[in-house]
Amino acid sequence: MENDTLYFEANRSLWNQKTPVHLRSEFYNMPAFMAGKTSLNQIELAEVGPVNGKSMLHLQCHFGQDSLSWARMGAKVTGIDISDEAIKQARELNSQLSLDATFVRSNLYDLKENLEGQFDIVFTSYGTIGWLPDLDKWADIIDHFLKPGGTFYIAEFHPVLWMFDDNFSEIVYPYHNTHEPIITETEGTYADREAPIKQKEYGWNHGLGEVITALISRGIYPEFLHEFSYSPYNCFSGMVQGEDGYWRIKGLENKLPMVYSIKAIKRGN
Ligand SMILES: C[S@@+](CC[C@H](N)C(=O)[O-])C[C@H]1O[C@@H](n2cnc3c(N)ncnc32)[C@H](O)[C@@H]1O
Repeated sequence: MENDTLYFEANRSLWNQKTPVHLRSEFYNMPAFMAGKTSLNQIELAEVGPVNGKSMLHLQCHFGQDSLSWARMGAKVTGIDISDEAIKQARELNSQLSLDATFVRSNLYDLKENLEGQFDIVFTSYGTIGWLPDLDKWADIIDHFLKPGGTFYIAEFHPVLWMFDDNFSEIVYPYHNTHEPIITETEGTYADREAPIKQKEYGWNHGLGEVITALISRGIYPEFLHEFSYSPYNCFSGMVQGEDGYWRIKGLENKLPMVYSIKAIKRGN
């Protein structure tokens, strides 16, 4: 965990740099969001279920677009993230939009020290668990903050995607979590490849069995695991947009799983 602290601090610094770039990017399309457009995708909108009046904990909320989109739908949202900049911006957006979401800056693993209460829904999506070395501890956090009978939901990029090099020409990383960080030197970000950001980042791959088993071992039982052959985001290099509007890897269209989602219920009520 001592090394993990160094990795978390490096990733925190990276996300602090990414946040202002993301706010200005076409990818996050802030003008449309501020004008009322949801940042949520059809996948999670269709699968999470009704949120009006429910309390929701949003893990790794970045600068709060999705958290605030749920808040606009009537959820009472608390978003948490390790990035100081992201949380600062999320709070600013919350006040500009006169919403009542709460944002907490915390490493996910330290959340018990920084937040109280239990929630009807715990939500996380797209590009989150790859920053976490240990899913048993992740599931412990979910269990701690989820009410008995409550819903956990994740939509995430498929672990098969993270096995490839940047151009999707070769398999270079293991499917399974080796518990050693995958260290990559990033240039730019998925939202702006030209952005002047160059820094090492530390990530971990998590196969589907690891994710599901971590949840079940805490008494959080999946209702479904869905796999999608498309991504709602144009966030990997060399993606092509289909007639359905969704994104796939050029040359590997409909051959690779792109995204998965899990909805799971905590035992008891
Ligand atoms: C890809 S973003 C979240 C994606 C979200 N779907 C979005 O586009 O707004 C990943 C987030 O995880 C956060 N993060 C990374 N490591 C974390 C950790 N250990 N604890 C809490 N947040 C973390 C980063 O700061 C970043 O905001």
